Amino acid sequence: MTKRHIALLGAGRMGSALALAFLARGHAVTIWNRTPEKARALAPKGVRVAQAPRDAVMGADVVVANLSDYTATEEVLGAPGVSEALRDKALVQLATGSPRQARQLDRWARENGIRYLDGAIMATPSFIGQPHCTLLYSGESPLFEAERALLSALGGNTTHVGADIGHANALDAAILIVLWGTLFGTWHAAALCEAEGFPLDALGSSLGAVMPVLAESVRDSVARIAERRFAGDEQTMATVATCHASVRLLHEISREHGLHLGLPDALENVFERLRGRSGDDVAAVFQAVRRA
Ligand SMILES: NC(=O)c1ccc[n+]([C@@H]2O[C@H](COP(=O)([O-])OP(=O)(O)OC[C@H]3O[C@@H](n4cnc5c(N)ncnc54)[C@H](OP(=O)(O)O)[C@@H]3O)[C@@H](O)[C@H]2O)c1
Repeated sequence: MTKRHIALLGAGRMGSALALAFLARGHAVTIWNRTPEKARALAPKGVRVAQAPRDAVMGADVVVANLSDYTATEEVLGAPGVSEALRDKALVQLATGSPRQARQLDRWARENGIRYLDGAIMATPSFIGQPHCTLLYSGESPLFEAERALLSALGGNTTHVGADIGHANALDAAILIVLWGTLFGTWHAAALCEAEGFPLDALGSSLGAVMPVLAESVRDSVARIAERRFAGDEQTMATVATCHASVRLLHEISREHGLHLGLPDALENVFERLRGRSGDDVAAVFQAVRRA
């Protein structure tokens, strides 16, 4: 593989892992960090440390930014001489943010003659560089294809999700809300088991055992939403009425134990909005969620 010169802006937990993954593939890495000690800690591994963002960007083919958010990124990219040093180069922005923030940065990049890919890292630092590590990118396809081999250093599942610069962040947010929903459910489940004196290790193994059912429900729901198949039919696995009854029960048990009602209340709230649709497929809940 051709050796490339990478400038990395940010030597936080994630930025440091990104630097080492590029280095492991034989690329030259120059890093800048606001707190210099964090960047200097990488020097013994072969990373060059820059004193200012502009110095890092000057000699690079590709610039990767991984600061805490877009506000910090815009601040650093706005530092003296940085936009000029970036001109005609590829900028890969990997902080977590919203689609709107990616579009705003894209406008700035275009105004300054900078080629920009936005990315979302779907992993923690220890996964970086591994074959099953997922990173999502959006932006112009020719730019992604030109940098695909380089970006694969960060994870084997390096995926372009579309030309719309906001779409990596859109999919990131969509996946994150599934993760948060699952984790919120897990915390509520643990509180419920504890209140009932049920062992938590048995909860863990039982949750593992029902994951295939959960995976199938997720797949079926997304397919039905895409096809707008909300009426109950022969393939319906559970109706609104059946699922609403389960939610009411969950609410009752949680109330009896004095648990936090955030999750049962939220579920009850959306099911209440489906009055008169008890025979529909449970995927119809989507229609209650999509408009406040
Ligand atoms: N960690 C993860 O598991 C993970 C997973 C997916 C995505 N991400 C995303 O990756 C990004 C970095 O996360 P992280 O875990 O590496 O965070 P972190 O360890 O807290 O690092 C944050 C980095 O941003 C820099 N920074 C913050 N504000 C700045 C400013 N105003 N000017 C200049 N530099 C500034 C910090 O510099 P100092 O060292 O000087 O404070 C540091 O380099 C975030 O957007 C995060 O959501 C992280």
